[in-house]
Amino acid sequence: MKLVVIGGGSSYTPELVEGVILHSRTLPVTEIVLIDVPMGEKKIQINTDFAKRMIAHAGLDISVRYTLDRKEGLAGAAFVITQLRVGGLGARAKDERIPLTYGVIGQETTGPGGFFKALRTIPVLLDICKDMEEVCPDAWLINFTNPAGIVTEAVLKHTGIKCIGLCNVSINMWHDAAGRLGVPVEDMDCRFIGLNHLSVMNHAYCGGEDRIGDVLAVSNSESVVKNIEKNDEMDILAREMGCMFSPYLQYFYSEKEMLRKETKEALSIEGTRANQVKRVEAELFKCYQNESLKEKPEALAKRGGARYSEAAIKLIDSIYNDRKDVQVVDVQNHGTIPELPDDCVIEMNCVIGKNGAEPLKDAEVPAEILGLVVQVKAYELLTIEAAIEGDRRKALLALMNNPLVHDVKDARGILEDMLEAHKEYLPRFGQ
Ligand code: G6P
Repeated sequence: MKLVVIGGGSSYTPELVEGVILHSRTLPVTEIVLIDVPMGEKKIQINTDFAKRMIAHAGLDISVRYTLDRKEGLAGAAFVITQLRVGGLGARAKDERIPLTYGVIGQETTGPGGFFKALRTIPVLLDICKDMEEVCPDAWLINFTNPAGIVTEAVLKHTGIKCIGLCNVSINMWHDAAGRLGVPVEDMDCRFIGLNHLSVMNHAYCGGEDRIGDVLAVSNSESVVKNIEKNDEMDILAREMGCMFSPYLQYFYSEKEMLRKETKEALSIEGTRANQVKRVEAELFKCYQNESLKEKPEALAKRGGARYSEAAIKLIDSIYNDRKDVQVVDVQNHGTIPELPDDCVIEMNCVIGKNGAEPLKDAEVPAEILGLVVQVKAYELLTIEAAIEGDRRKALLALMNNPLVHDVKDARGILEDMLEAHKEYLPRFGQ
């Protein structure tokens, strides 16, 4: 079975290789092909050598290679994982910083930063799918590329490729809930609903009983993702609402505080998250080059994507082995949230088997977050259209529907500045 990773030069790749190794008894991967663009060649070489050492150390017979020829690398793939970042961390830094000059949160997924990441990324993903339609039309595309919900929706609406979107937030929240109750994670059945980076856990079943109240009653001093600090105010609100929140809800419910933090970081020597991640990456690639290193280093835990491989490989394993277990993924709505279009992508618990992900029927969005979900979906729909059509009017309207952008003058300013800053990656918006 051939597994292809696009964005193979990412510092997360060893995490994925570890997942393949841990699942080797049930998931017979025989070949891993890492693919990247020329800008990522040095990193993909390092990752390939390190992956070979990890696999040899585990005593497995899996071939690993890299290529910069995407179509050649994709040929015959059974599963394709996308974890790419168009423009690299340099583009992320601009996404995070430019909106701040207008007093607006940047954020690489939820704010205008995520909007520009979507504009840069959607055309690339559609091109990847075109290649897949030619050389591996039956392969599954597991999309981790952010903004994961929006990108997955664009793929499902505009290509014939079988695609499931994935994020590490829910699996981390699931572990967090189990930890708070002091029970094994497998004993819990946690239910999530919403959009990617805008979801809540509204039920936490354990031994047949919904223990969400008990979960919320316990405070955990650690945030579920490394890139967003814990906020006690959010825990109080979560208790009042009766749901556990994705940490990304802080951007909407604690906007002033998040803006203050982002502005302070941007002005400090530490810099925005992109600057911080650059330093972590430098440290990681230094470790990966150490010939004696044969397992994933601890320093990888400093990235926000913890348990990323657990989520990805578990999903692939369940499709391959037709397990019919329940996992939280990004899929088309098909009536689950009646207020949203059928073909839009939502994030929720699904039964995973050889035909993909089937949403559980009994999900309901708490009334307290429904308005926000509907508004953000309006932003997401316009974002996809703007990205595909290179349409400035739709781009502006998308920004106006993003709850973090409050003012049309700011929206126009951010749009113009960002289109200029990213023009090399936005050919559809020809100047
Ligand atoms: C979280 C999110 C991911 C995101 C990551 C950023 O884990 O769920 O979607 O990519 O954080 O982490 P980073 O280390 O790049 O800031």
